[in-house]
Amino acid sequence: MQDNNKNVYPVTFKAIQREEKEKLINQKARVIWMTGLSGSGKTTLAKHLDKALYNRGFLSQILDGDNIRSGINNNLSFTNEDRMENIRRIAEVSTLFLNCGIITINSFISPTEEIRNMAMGIIGRENVIEVFINAPLNICEQRDVKGLYARARRGEIKDFTGIDAPFEIPLDADVEVRTDIQTVEESVQQILDHVFPLIQLGIKN
Ligand code: ADX
Repeated sequence: MQDNNKNVYPVTFKAIQREEKEKLINQKARVIWMTGLSGSGKTTLAKHLDKALYNRGFLSQILDGDNIRSGINNNLSFTNEDRMENIRRIAEVSTLFLNCGIITINSFISPTEEIRNMAMGIIGRENVIEVFINAPLNICEQRDVKGLYARARRGEIKDFTGIDAPFEIPLDADVEVRTDIQTVEESVQQILDHVFPLIQLGIKN
């Protein structure tokens, strides 16, 4: 533990347990962790998924790279070290939601096995549904919704994932959707099919 934390005492009194809160809102909490290149469709799918869950009576919260990085993580860059810190904080925040019974939908590039493993280590692999949002780099680059790939190619942004920073294909994903060949509806349905049995109270898994 760091020195400046030595006088910190995490709360250990008997708080209301996760299971009790899950019962209160009639769902099981999970972290739906979406990993993929910038422009692969993570944010779009997160929004659709959030809505689909809401429509079926589930409570979820989106945690999204672009939003988180303009708020709680606005002091972090895109070096490997700062990406690790970005994801570490997100994993800790996700754990808070988890313990409150709430499903989080996380959309972060989370580009390496090391980074994703670190997140899983904090959250607990059994609590995470890892979803690989897969679209080939050339398609993401063609889409270039934010114009960032063009800027990265011109050398105006460095350490850009897929250009001059790595993206490692996840080896252990629970679901893989191909946003270049599937419709949004198909991808959302595929994710929901996997997620539903895991978030329904009363279903053993
Ligand atoms: S992560 O690598 O640390 O997981 P995160 O998902 O939070 O990344 O943020 C990615 C978003 O930041 C991208 O969708 C893009 O809009 C923006 N961005 C800005 N600079 C970069 C960069 N160098 N590499 C990747 N994304 C970047």
